Amino acid sequence: MNPRSSCSSTARSGLRVVRLLRAKRIEDAQVRTYLCSADDLPDGSARGFEPAAVSGHRMFVVRRGDRVEGWLDSCPHVPGAPLAWRKDAYLSADRQSIVCYGHGAVFNIDTGVCTSGPCLGQALTPVPVERDPRGALWAIFPNASN
Ligand code: FES
Repeated sequence: MNPRSSCSSTARSGLRVVRLLRAKRIEDAQVRTYLCSADDLPDGSARGFEPAAVSGHRMFVVRRGDRVEGWLDSCPHVPGAPLAWRKDAYLSADRQSIVCYGHGAVFNIDTGVCTSGPCLGQALTPVPVERDPRGALWAIFPNASN
C-alpha cells in the first residue's frame, strides 16, 4: 500500500469531518455551511463548492471587489445541469458575465438573470453568502432539508 495515498485518504476524511463540524444547522430548514476564506478567493474569480452538509446542492461563488455572490450550480435551461465546463470555469473570458457552457447561456454577474441564450430572462438561484468578522465565507441554504 502506498503510504502517501493512505495519508491523502485520511486527510480527505479529516477534511470532511471538519466541514461537517463547521456546518451548523441554525434551524430545521436552514443550513449555514463554511465555504472558504475570502482571502482564498481572488477579486474577479469564481469557485465551485459541494458542501457536505447539504449534499446534492452544488453551488459557486463570484467575487467582485468586496462583494461575494453565491448561486446554485444549476442552469435554468436544464435544471440540475452544472454551468462550468471545467473546475471553477463559471465566468466569461472577460470575467464580466457568468456563462453556462452547456449551450452558451450568459448571465448578468450581479443579478443572475440570463441575458443571452436558450433561457433568456430566466435566472440562476441565489444562495446567500455571509462573511464573518474573520473573513470566512459561509453559505446559507434556506431549504436544504427539502
Ligand atoms: S444547460 Fe445551460 S445553457 Fe443549456
